[in-house]
Amino acid sequence: MKIAVIGTGYVGLVTGVALSEIGHTVICIDVDPEKVEKLSQGIPTIYEPGLKELIQKNINNGRLFFTSEHRRGLEGADVVYIAVGTPQRRDGSANLSYVEQAAVDIAANITRNVIVVIKSTVPVGTNFHIKELINRNTVNGVHVRIASNPEFLREGSAVHDTFHGDRIVIGTEDGETADILAEINKPFDMPILKTDISSAEMIKYSSNAFLATKISFINEIANLCESLGANVEEVAKGMGFDHRIGPDFLKAGIGYGGSCFPKDTNALVQLAGNADHEFNLLKSVIEVNNNQQLLLIDKILSRFGSVRGKRAAVLGLAFKPNTDDLRESPALVMIPKLVKLGADVIAYDPIAVSNAKKQFSVEIEYTEDLNEALQDADFAVIITDWADVKNIDLSAFAAAMRTPVVFDGRNCYSLDRVRKSEVEYYSIGRPSHTPELTK
Ligand code: UDX
Ligand code: UDX
Repeated sequence: MKIAVIGTGYVGLVTGVALSEIGHTVICIDVDPEKVEKLSQGIPTIYEPGLKELIQKNINNGRLFFTSEHRRGLEGADVVYIAVGTPQRRDGSANLSYVEQAAVDIAANITRNVIVVIKSTVPVGTNFHIKELINRNTVNGVHVRIASNPEFLREGSAVHDTFHGDRIVIGTEDGETADILAEINKPFDMPILKTDISSAEMIKYSSNAFLATKISFINEIANLCESLGANVEEVAKGMGFDHRIGPDFLKAGIGYGGSCFPKDTNALVQLAGNADHEFNLLKSVIEVNNNQQLLLIDKILSRFGSVRGKRAAVLGLAFKPNTDDLRESPALVMIPKLVKLGADVIAYDPIAVSNAKKQFSVEIEYTEDLNEALQDADFAVIITDWADVKNIDLSAFAAAMRTPVVFDGRNCYSLDRVRKSEVEYYSIGRPSHTPELTK
């Protein structure tokens, strides 16, 4: 099968590379010629474990190509995937202008009937709108069929998730299109759900909204645990044994970030509103998350009173480990707040520093060296549970910092470990630890 993929962001690139790995000939199209140039040379434009090897292998196999020219990319394609971004507008709704642009590009350049597959997360109804937009603008009497095939990739494990996901969802208007897509996806060897287009679009939003709900729920429980003297990790463990609940996505912390949960929950609230449905549950999920992202500020202020002139080591900038992505990261709200309160911030991240520099307008220091970040700090704030932060010898805090006070937004350390250290420790939903008091 000859496949074209429009958009080489996280989703498009991983999808295109994976489709080439399972034997299809894939040409990835992106409007950004610099990205295309790098990718053509086998250099990944995003950090994703395992991706570089697969890109290089499939370029060498002659199955994977990159171009910035739609005419060239779409020539001879049987199936065209749309995987451009759908960022949120200021009102929370999804911005479909990139998807619409991709549709216009498809219409202008295809020379035969193709199946268009929408991978991007789009509001219910968008697939039909895009099909009509393309079919209205095609030349030579060609037309397209449309399919919704949402992605369920987690950044940082996108390659793994593509090959070992839980399901593939295919929404179409007819059985033949569904069969063709099922055949394309067969080598992934995963359960395939064939359904109608609107349900497929809704499955994506509902899945992300439910996972976000799980996280906000456990974060609320965590906050309650602190007031009642319970330990949220024990609570989550006990809940997770119940297979109806499951142990995943019950990790309390400083809230969810990333390119999907914040955007998709807002979009679903908006979508519900358009249908005259007040999605109060989801509105609360979002509110809990917004509060959670700033929770550590309250803890820092109640410990120090004021942070003016204090040196703050912020550990982690990415919204989660194994990615250099800062989209909706709690770091984006925490750091400006600390700076506004007068703290002198040094931010550590092993791979997200260069992306961070483009995002922050506030003056802070950056480092890729964890120990340098801790040097002479008055307190440390853990934003991302990077492996090196989790595995640090806790004595390093006392050795390097002026005062080893740690605010851990990711519950990186067991309380047993902390109790054996000299660290003054505040985490989420667990008892705090003050060495002087326990000695
Ligand atoms: C994806 C999905 O598409 C989005 O719907 C999902 O909810 C989250 O993840 P992502 O892959 O992260 O988005 O998007 P992004 O990193 O913004 O990349 C989009 C790419 O498409 C960029 O490389 C951009 O240059 C390219 N693009 C954009 C085109 O090739 N054509 C366009 O018309 C617009
Ligand atoms: C998510 C979905 O998991 C994926 O299926 C979808 O297609 C895209 O959105 P992603 O945003 O890459 O993937 O990361 P994910 O691992 O789901 O984490 C999202 C956020 O939730 C992160 O900020 C993470 O730290 C947070 N999280 C996750 C928690 O706070 N607690 C948890 O238990 C799990």
